[in-house]
Amino acid sequence: MSDALVNPEIGLLGAHPFPRVAALLEGVEPPPGPHIDLTIGEPRVAPPDWLGTRLAEHGSTLGSYPRNEGTAAFREAASGWLNRRFLLDPPLAPEAVMPSSGAREVLFQLGLLAARPGLAIMPTPHYAPYRAAARLTGLEAVYLPSVEEHGFLPNLDEVDRLGPEVALFTVCSPTNPEGAVADREYLARAVGLARRHGFILAVDECYSEIYRTEAPFGVLRTCAELARPGEDPYAQVLAVNSLSKRSSAPGLRVGFTAGDRRLVKGLIDLRAYAAGTVGCPNMAAAADLLDDETHVDRIRDFYRELFDAADAILGDLPGYRSPEAGMFLWLRVDDDEATAVECWETAGLRVVPGRYLGPEAHHGAPEEAVPAAGYVRIAMVHDLDTTRLALERLAPILMKRGVAA
Ligand SMILES: Cc1ncc(COP(=O)(O)O)c(C=O)c1O
Repeated sequence: MSDALVNPEIGLLGAHPFPRVAALLEGVEPPPGPHIDLTIGEPRVAPPDWLGTRLAEHGSTLGSYPRNEGTAAFREAASGWLNRRFLLDPPLAPEAVMPSSGAREVLFQLGLLAARPGLAIMPTPHYAPYRAAARLTGLEAVYLPSVEEHGFLPNLDEVDRLGPEVALFTVCSPTNPEGAVADREYLARAVGLARRHGFILAVDECYSEIYRTEAPFGVLRTCAELARPGEDPYAQVLAVNSLSKRSSAPGLRVGFTAGDRRLVKGLIDLRAYAAGTVGCPNMAAAADLLDDETHVDRIRDFYRELFDAADAILGDLPGYRSPEAGMFLWLRVDDDEATAVECWETAGLRVVPGRYLGPEAHHGAPEEAVPAAGYVRIAMVHDLDTTRLALERLAPILMKRGVAA
């Protein structure tokens, strides 16, 4: 097939991190096994054991096309969960929520939804679909470095400076990869900037339930607190969430987006042309998951134990930081690629060099100017014994290569 048939921007998105790790480690010999893959943030703790049965029970719904906007039952369950979890007052109406096949597709479709021309601002490092949302839809991507000095979040002074040209600002909280959480003050300022400058603020809250001590505040709660009579409290704001992490059910492919009713309607209209809908049994099972918190407590405890182990094993070493939330360690090291090679060669561990999670290396910036190049990402998803073994093997490498903040 001639390359001329394919939009060249697709090639310019850059390789996904995992093939890049494979290429980096090709030809490097690890010690005898077991080898432990710490690259992919795929949840491995089980979803609730009743999920399969429930899905089968909902099989009777397979005979009808799912509706774009979702079933009334799903929208009730999702808005109900958001209202309970984020103490939303005024409550979010079911019509202000819609389902998607995981969060990923919506994070891309936001680029199609946003007004144009305009800038699409996002953090770097970031979850790669944010980048695709800008580059494949004709928006102009602007990458704001999530550096430690700014709490691993994009600097809002920069967002304000670019304000009038911005069409979409996508931010992640809790963040992947750093596990930082945007507090109420940060979110309130971001909401204020969206309204002052007239752009869409989308907050990717997929990790909102995987926290250590304090439940993240969330952008919808921020909006509810700022609400003024007669105005849509959620104006210009969307929260994107998912059952992949909360319920450890990434194979179910159910996410949901909530907030400004006009934006939710715009997404539903767009998705009538540009997306598959969520299968009826999956949507019904997702509603069951949203009505249950017992399994979420269990899943959160599972991650807590892993991060407690990391605190105990790596806590005193340079470069270590205990993340507030999420499923990753983000360790500061002298050289991310050299550390990844050493992890594989001396300890049989596969980790992601931080620079593979940002776009800069693909778009002309010198690699030393890439902020994430000073970090490696470690996925904390294995069982406790495997995780302990991995952390113990990692400790001497961090002792040597870790850089204190
Ligand atoms: C930051 C972030 N957002 C969104 C997603 C998408 O999750 P899903 O499409 O499974 O809902 C992921 C998945 O890894 C992620 O890390």
